[in-house]
Amino acid sequence: NIDPMAAMFNKAWFTQALHMCLAAFTATGFAVAGVHALMILRKQNQDFHYKAFKIAAVFATIGALLQPISGDISAKDVAQRQPAKLAAMEALYKTEKPAPLLIGGIVNEKKKEVNYAIEIPGALSFLAHGDFNAEVKGLDQIPEDEHPPVAITHYAFQIMVGIGSFLVLLSLMYFFILWRNKSVLNKRWLLKIFVFAIPLGYIALEAGWVVTEVGRQPWIIYGIMRTKDAVTPMPGIAWSFYLFTAIYASLSIIVIALLYRQIKMVPTLYSGSIDSSTTKAD
Ligand code: HEM
Repeated sequence: NIDPMAAMFNKAWFTQALHMCLAAFTATGFAVAGVHALMILRKQNQDFHYKAFKIAAVFATIGALLQPISGDISAKDVAQRQPAKLAAMEALYKTEKPAPLLIGGIVNEKKKEVNYAIEIPGALSFLAHGDFNAEVKGLDQIPEDEHPPVAITHYAFQIMVGIGSFLVLLSLMYFFILWRNKSVLNKRWLLKIFVFAIPLGYIALEAGWVVTEVGRQPWIIYGIMRTKDAVTPMPGIAWSFYLFTAIYASLSIIVIALLYRQIKMVPTLYSGSIDSSTTKAD
C-alpha cells in the first residue's frame, strides 16, 4: 500500500527541492552569464550583452552564495536520515569522535582507506551535527551488504563542493567589484573566468545527483526495497528505454537549434556598443 502524496512529500523533499532549485538558478545563471561574457570579450553588441550579462550574473551569484547554506542543511539532514550516504560522501570507514572533514584524497575500497587527503579536524562533526566534538557514524556501523559505492560517492561530493566553493569565490569577486563601483567591462580577466564557468554549474549539478542516487545504494526505497529487487523481469523493456532516449536526444537537438537561431538573431535585433572606459557598473 503506497500513498503517493506521502512518498512525494517525504522527509527529504524540502531540503532536496531547495538545493535543486538553487542549483538550477546557479547552473543556468552562470551558463548564460558566461555566453554573454564571451560576446563582450569579442566586442559584439556590447550594450545588449552587458545588460543581459548583469541579469544572468545576479541570479547566478545569489544562487551560488546561498548554495553552501542549503548544502549544509542537506548534509545535516542526510546525517540523520541516511548515515551510510554521509559516511560514503566523506569516505568515513571508521566511526570517529570528533570526525575530520576530508578534502580530496584517493579512496582504496579494498583496504577501506583514503590516501593523500587533506584533513580538517572536527569539521565533519560540525557539518553533520553542528558540534565540533560530535560522533559521526562510519561505515563500520553499517552492515557490509548495505554499503554504497564509496569512491564514486566521495569523488562526486568533492567535485560538487569544489565547484560550489569556486563559484562562491567568483560571486564574491563580482560583488566586490560592483561594490567598488568599477565596471566589469574593463575586467577582461573576470569576464574570462565567467566564460570558464559556463559548464561548471551543470557539472556540479550532475555530481550532486550522483551523490544523492549512488550514495543511497543498495536501496531503491531506503531500508525497505533493494534496487536489485526492483529490476523488472518484463521482456523487451530495453525498447522503451531506446525510444525515450531517442525522444530526449531529438528534443535536445531542437532546443540547441532554436537557441543557436536566437543567438544568431541578436546582431540584427540590437546594434551598437558601449565604450568600456566610460561605463560604470550599476
Ligand atoms: C557548496 C557546497 C555544497 C554542499 C555542502 C552540498 C551538499 C549536498 C548534499 C549533502 C547533497 C546530498 C543530499 C541528499 O542526498 O539528500 C547534495 C546533493 C545535490 N547537490 Fe549539492 N552541495 C553543495 C554545492 C552544490 C552546487 C554548487 C550544486 C549545483 C550547482 C549542487 C547541486 C546538487 C544537486 C543537484 C544535488 C542532488 C539533489 C538533492 O539531493 O538536493 N550542490 N548536495
